[in-house]
Amino acid sequence: MVDLPAPRTPRGYALALVCLGNICRSPMAHVVLAHKLAAAGLASQVAVASSGTGDWHIGEKMDHRAAESLAHHGYDPTVHRAQQFVGDWFTRYDAILVMDAGNRRDVLRLTPADGDRERVLLFRAFDPEAGDDLDVPDPWYGDQRGFEAVLQIIERTTDELVTRLADP
Ligand code: 4NP
Repeated sequence: MVDLPAPRTPRGYALALVCLGNICRSPMAHVVLAHKLAAAGLASQVAVASSGTGDWHIGEKMDHRAAESLAHHGYDPTVHRAQQFVGDWFTRYDAILVMDAGNRRDVLRLTPADGDRERVLLFRAFDPEAGDDLDVPDPWYGDQRGFEAVLQIIERTTDELVTRLADP
């Protein structure tokens, strides 16, 4: 497994989660990671945000199926509003964790000239049970089972991330 990028300042860590629409995968990961960080007493030390590379859903709530899976597992999906990833996020986040290879390509296209490309990593690079395929499958075109499967990936991966963030 890879390491999280070093913090840019000693004042804490800022982590961005990025997918395509910011209504399914990255908001689910955002809610679960924020929940686990709060439970671990790390909410004031680690800032989390999420965005999508596309602009179609800016300002919208998350997909109702993503919200359904989160609520079913005890998480609060209501606060999320979709936003778009812009190059400026390179100056604001220590790590930019993307959900799939397409997101990675799109994010790297927006890297400023002095941007640190090594701060862009696949989210599943931190999934202890990932095989060769490090993409979080896009559940948008499927049914509720796809969202439940994505949540399982997110549970494992965010557990690992919290462990890393607790002991940098
Ligand atoms: P997400 O899923 O990237 O996990 O939020 C998608 C949401 C919307 C679309 C594609 C993927 N879309 O084409 O609108």
